[in-house]
Amino acid sequence: MRNEYIPYTAIIESIQNESFDTKTFRVVFEDEELAASFDYKPGQFAQLSLLGIGEAPISITSSPCSRGYLEFTIRAVGRLTRAIHQLKPADKIYVRGPYGNSFPFEEVKGKNLYSIAGGIGLPPLRSLINSVFDRRDEFGRIKILYGAKTPDELCFKQELKTWRRIPDTEVLLTVDTPDENWKENVGVVTTLWDKTDMASSDGVAYVCGPPIMIRFVIIELIKSGFEDENIYVTLERYMKCGIGKCGHCNIGPKFVCIDGPVFSYSQLKELPEKETAMAI
Ligand SMILES: Cc1cc2nc3c(=O)[nH]c(=O)nc-3n(C[C@H](O)[C@H](O)[C@H](O)COP(=O)(O)OP(=O)(O)OC[C@H]3O[C@@H](n4cnc5c(N)ncnc54)[C@H](O)[C@@H]3O)c2cc1C
Ligand code: FES
Repeated sequence: MRNEYIPYTAIIESIQNESFDTKTFRVVFEDEELAASFDYKPGQFAQLSLLGIGEAPISITSSPCSRGYLEFTIRAVGRLTRAIHQLKPADKIYVRGPYGNSFPFEEVKGKNLYSIAGGIGLPPLRSLINSVFDRRDEFGRIKILYGAKTPDELCFKQELKTWRRIPDTEVLLTVDTPDENWKENVGVVTTLWDKTDMASSDGVAYVCGPPIMIRFVIIELIKSGFEDENIYVTLERYMKCGIGKCGHCNIGPKFVCIDGPVFSYSQLKELPEKETAMAI
């Protein structure tokens, strides 16, 4: 049996600048058979590493429908992510995974879906959003609410325009600090509630972003009629193994690496409040 800690070698195919500190890397496994057969679900992550530098969990942002490559959107914040930002096309990177659970997808067919993201929270949701768009007719209305500190910090700027043109889809953008060209909303992501009808008794919401944003978005979703079990969030934790062995990522009885990173709000309410920043 293959040792789970040994990563696969992948080659960087292309790099897209998203903002001053964030880039999207498209990578292809060196082993062609693996590249063709590698399967994952929206919301799952991989452990990315560089030899002699380190390893970290990064969400897979490509859609599983796009075969042959994986995409990762990475903000340079520390030792590994800064080193990855120095890489160029044709350089090697190492990948273990896919790990973790995923956003409910097949189970929500026919429902109205609401994706709410802040900053680097859009990359994990992009995998889900593009999977839904690949099968657009099977889902109800789609709303994407996305906020960042500045217009430059919005990820996937071109793709946001493409999503806007998809039928029965609304994309609402907001920033804390606009520039002279900004024509959309200004304010935190919850201020978008005044710009669209968010009332929903059976809609499904996916929320990804910093803990403070998740907390206030959940308050608004509850006020708008969303059921606890129809609100899904992703949690971040420092991880080592990614496979439920080391105990680095636990919150109460749950391991974020195997029980998460996606949790429903009903599940979150069972976890220690301090550790999830969900004390509402
Ligand atoms: C499931 C999951 C998915 C993720 N997906 C993405 C993604 O798609 N894109 C992305 O950019 N990031 C993602 N992350 C976050 C990423 O894994 C971390 O930012 C990771 O720590 C980066 O590694 P690094 O070596 O570059 O930075 P590190 O050296 O780990 O530093 C990262 C930041 O945390 C601080 N820090 C370091 N150690 C500690 C500590 N012990 N306690 C408190 N603060 C500390 C540092 O000062 C720095 O600000 C994800 C995390 C999880 C758990
Ligand atoms: S990272 Fe090791 S148990 Fe979760």
